[in-house]
Amino acid sequence: MKIVVLMGSPRKGNTFRACEEFREHLQKICPAEFEYIWLRDAHIEPCTGCFVCFPRGEDKCPNRDDDVRLIEQKMLDADGVIFASPVYSANVSGQMKTFIDRISYTGHRPRFFEKKAFFLVTTGIMSADDVLKYMKTLAWAWGFECAGTAGLITPNGVIPPYRVEINTRLLRDAAGTFSATLLRTTPRRVRIMDVIAFYGARGILSQTETVSPADYQYWKSRGWLSPDANWFLDVPLNPLYRAIGKIVERYGKRVFRKFMGL
Ligand SMILES: Cc1cc2nc3c(=O)[nH]c(=O)nc-3n(C[C@H](O)[C@H](O)[C@H](O)COP(=O)(O)O)c2cc1C
Repeated sequence: MKIVVLMGSPRKGNTFRACEEFREHLQKICPAEFEYIWLRDAHIEPCTGCFVCFPRGEDKCPNRDDDVRLIEQKMLDADGVIFASPVYSANVSGQMKTFIDRISYTGHRPRFFEKKAFFLVTTGIMSADDVLKYMKTLAWAWGFECAGTAGLITPNGVIPPYRVEINTRLLRDAAGTFSATLLRTTPRRVRIMDVIAFYGARGILSQTETVSPADYQYWKSRGWLSPDANWFLDVPLNPLYRAIGKIVERYGKRVFRKFMGL
């Protein structure tokens, strides 16, 4: 199993140590090979807000020659991706946020459906849950299957022994969850929110041929605009979920057309 760690911490500190401990737990139960991508060392220009990637494609980004596409390819080549960040000012680190903004087009053109994501956050005391939720929501919109989280309290300096014990337990349990998902051979279970996201987006994106051709063509080329497409992947789908999805699709289409004055 190939695991890529998107390392958001700018230093080899608490977040790195936590990832290493997680790796040790995981490697006891799963043949996992780790590769760290240190976002601090990568060439990642900040998003300029030009809005070109959404309608025209990421290959038209004015910063397309930096390392973002290479990192995206490493994520696509892996079985699992660990999103690792310290809490800085109640959010992800700046390095992680810069990367997230640059890969934002993936929310329109999702691509990581067969990849499992794990989320690791370290904090002095607060906001681990908020930051985990933030990263999980984004990764879900990019197509990832969430395969566990760990939020660890690791203040700067000495960490009290009882807290070290709690962190170790959290990491060991989370490694079990991640490993089970990585090693699973059955298809991904599609939940109602996954279905609503697909059909809602299809309702909208089916109307974007002229306003956002890159999105439209991406969806069309994958067959997702076809009424026969059940979901992003060809997986079993609960018929009730599909019926709900169809309603959401019609609603999405109507709202978008009204918004665009069509
Ligand atoms: C710039 C900065 C901002 C921080 N902001 C918060 C915060 O908002 N809430 C909090 O509980 N801890 C905060 N911390 C503490 C770190 O989240 C915590 O110690 C983390 O484990 C550091 O990880 P690292 O060693 O990988 O950098 C902050 C630390 C730094 C350096």
